[in-house]
Amino acid sequence: MSELTTAQTHKVTDLDLHATGPGTLAGRYMRMFWHPICLSTEVEAGRSRREQIMSEFVTIYRGESGQLHAVADRCPHRGVQLSIGWVQGEEIRCFYHGWKFNGQGQCTEMPAETPGYAARMKIKHYPVKEYLGFVFIYLGEGEPPELPCYPELEDEKAGVLESLARFPVPCNYFQRLENNIDQVHVNFAHGDVFGDQGVGEIPEYIIEPTDFGLRAIGRRSTGDRVTYYHMPNIGVIAVPPVGDEVDWAILVVWRVPVDDYSNRSFNVRRARKKPGAPIKPVVDRSAEQVAVSLDILAGRRKLEEISQNDRELLVPVQDNLALIGQGAIADRGEAENLGRSDAGIIALRRLWRTELQKLVDGEAVKQWPWPKTGMKVTSGAKGSD
Ligand code: FES
Ligand SMILES: [Fe+2]
Repeated sequence: MSELTTAQTHKVTDLDLHATGPGTLAGRYMRMFWHPICLSTEVEAGRSRREQIMSEFVTIYRGESGQLHAVADRCPHRGVQLSIGWVQGEEIRCFYHGWKFNGQGQCTEMPAETPGYAARMKIKHYPVKEYLGFVFIYLGEGEPPELPCYPELEDEKAGVLESLARFPVPCNYFQRLENNIDQVHVNFAHGDVFGDQGVGEIPEYIIEPTDFGLRAIGRRSTGDRVTYYHMPNIGVIAVPPVGDEVDWAILVVWRVPVDDYSNRSFNVRRARKKPGAPIKPVVDRSAEQVAVSLDILAGRRKLEEISQNDRELLVPVQDNLALIGQGAIADRGEAENLGRSDAGIIALRRLWRTELQKLVDGEAVKQWPWPKTGMKVTSGAKGSD
């Protein structure tokens, strides 16, 4: 007779970090936080749109009153996308046979069905909030936590606020997280661009665990470049001026999984412009940045063909080449060989593994309140994308 065995608890490894679909470990963890899903301006009153986040489709709509709502995208009748339906008052009506749902996901009308059926039909709905020009969504169970606030970006006197919801990049979100905290890549991948800003020298690398995640310092003789990492997926970075900007800007960036093979960046920056500089609409060039990157990776174009003056194209392409070049999902198993310069990546993965292990073991995960960093738009606290 075989012996009785007790179920082994899963030991979390780096191979658990990339999958964020419903029911996955990292997906359960990521669903405990708010994430940006689109720009506020992308959802006009009386209109709806479909978004994909962490391998789930969501219909976001703005009622005729201006109030935002988010519900599951698939109609429970025969599976049509609710996002192509009609917003009526604060409700959305399915395009196919007219079932109607309110912002709580409750079906309120089934024009061709027997009375009473609608009252028994409910779909998922999600809390949404607007902040810094984005729509934030909470996909988790139960009451959502407080939405994190960034006082550094709220100071209206400290320049112009620009929010960008970027086109998806075809690689796993965790590659983007790791790149945020990778200082040495600046010397090589962006060496031609930032060399004149004193990053030519390989930095001494200092990683400090903090209440909000990690502080990564690249120490060079020219000064420190600091990157703040706010758990679980947010970078808070000082970035050099581009275009009409004077001095360094503050950039906060969320790396949000679309599915396991692609992710979007939601960037918001507060930057001071030259006096009298015209306020230009922010243009999202990420589709072009990805297309050029894919051409270079396929050998159809060369990186050297991109003008050094077009940094808005060049710098993201340099990052994309590294990130997409690692494969859609980077191999964090035996194929990689980390060194001391990967201290930030090692610390980041350790934080994540610790939190995921708590989920496996049924323990409470840590909260990561964002402190007032004292970062100012003109502080020159140097960072890197
Ligand atoms: S599929 Fe939506 S009402 Fe039929
Ligand atoms: Fe970079």
